[in-house]
Amino acid sequence: MLSRILAVAPAPLLCAVVLAGCEHLPPSKPASEWTPQEARGAAVYQQKCARCHYPTTTRGLNGPGLQALTKRKAMPSGAPPTDERITDAILHGRGMMPATPLDDSQLEDLLAYLHTL
Ligand code: HEC
Repeated sequence: MLSRILAVAPAPLLCAVVLAGCEHLPPSKPASEWTPQEARGAAVYQQKCARCHYPTTTRGLNGPGLQALTKRKAMPSGAPPTDERITDAILHGRGMMPATPLDDSQLEDLLAYLHTL
C-alpha cells in the first residue's frame, strides 16, 4: 500500500512524505575553495567533533548532523545558529554533548569552518 503511494508520488511530495520536511539546504563550500582558516577549522572539526557529528548531512551520528548549520533557521534545540550559541554548546556542552575545551584561535577557525557547511 505504502509502496504504491511512493511509486506514483512525484519526487518533491515523496521528500515531504518520507523525510517529513527535508529542507532544501544551501550547498556547502567545497574543500578546494576553503581559506587557510577554514581548512584549519576543518582539522579541528576532524579531531574534536567528527566522531559525533556528520558535517555533510543532517542525519544523526552520536549527535545531529551539522550540514548547513549556520544557514538554517534554527539548530536542533530550536536556538538560532549564531556564533554565540554555537560557541556556548562547544565550550560548555549541551545535554548529551560533552564540553570541548578549545583555545581562542581553534574556536575561531572551527567557527569559520562551520560557516562553510
Ligand atoms: C561525544 C559526542 C559529541 C561530540 C564530541 C560533540 N558533540 Fe555536538 N552534540 C552532541 C549531542 C548528543 C548533541 C545533542 C545535544 C542535545 O541537545 O541534547 C549535540 C549538539 C550539537 C549542536 C546543536 C546545538 C543545539 O542547540 O541544537 C551543535 C551546533 C554541536 N553539537 C556542535 C558540535 C561541535 C562543533 C563539536 C566539536 C567541537 C561537537 N559538537 C562535539 C554530541 C557531541
